[in-house]
Amino acid sequence: MFSIRNQTINDQAPVDHLLDLSFGADRKTKSAYTLRQGLVAVPNLALAAEQEGELVGSIQFWPLKLDLVEGSVAGTGIVLLGPLAVHPERQNLGLGQALIGEGLKRAAVLGYCGAILVGDPAYYGRFGFDHGCVAGLTLSAEPVQSRVQGYELTDGSLAGLRGKIISAGNSISDD
Ligand SMILES: CC(C)(COP(=O)(O)OP(=O)(O)OC[C@H]1O[C@@H](n2cnc3c(N)ncnc32)[C@H](O)[C@@H]1OP(=O)(O)O)[C@@H](O)C(=O)NCCC(=O)NCCS
Repeated sequence: MFSIRNQTINDQAPVDHLLDLSFGADRKTKSAYTLRQGLVAVPNLALAAEQEGELVGSIQFWPLKLDLVEGSVAGTGIVLLGPLAVHPERQNLGLGQALIGEGLKRAAVLGYCGAILVGDPAYYGRFGFDHGCVAGLTLSAEPVQSRVQGYELTDGSLAGLRGKIISAGNSISDD
């Protein structure tokens, strides 16, 4: 059995270790990292999966900004999901699914209207993430735009938005 709980300051080193193991030491060069740089994960949306006292899974959500074209209006707030990682020895046991489910449930309770991520559509598609609803949004640092996917926490919150996905740390896009 595993449990899901909020991450604490003590989880920082084990989470970093898990992410290095899952994505490699060069993970910080990935496009989603540019969106998270200098930011703090949303409180109550940085979750750990724990099994027998060990941290075996991690998911985080981050603030995100959209630089929208005129006439395109975003809802109450969109979060960036990621990274999601489950320890290689504990994969295929439903931990990833549980972390995503709990994270999205909490994000809805906190009032967010949608979530965006950069990841493998073959995995995230099974949870309802889809490129189609964010096809009008571009992420300049991501070479494969179909890896940008969205999930509407409230109906119609993402579809139809047009503009750029930018870091919540920037007021304007850098290109
Ligand atoms: C992707 C990851 C988080 C999944 O965690 P998990 O706890 O094993 O996932 P779950 O148990 O909820 O789901 C397992 C299912 O997802 C499938 N799956 C896992 N990774 C997949 C991928 N990249 N593409 C398609 N399917 C994938 C498994 O084959 C399994 O399928 P099944 O249910 O039909 O047997 C984990 O494999 C991981 O940490 N990978 C390395 C880091 C990573 O790639 N993270 C983000 C994904 S872009």
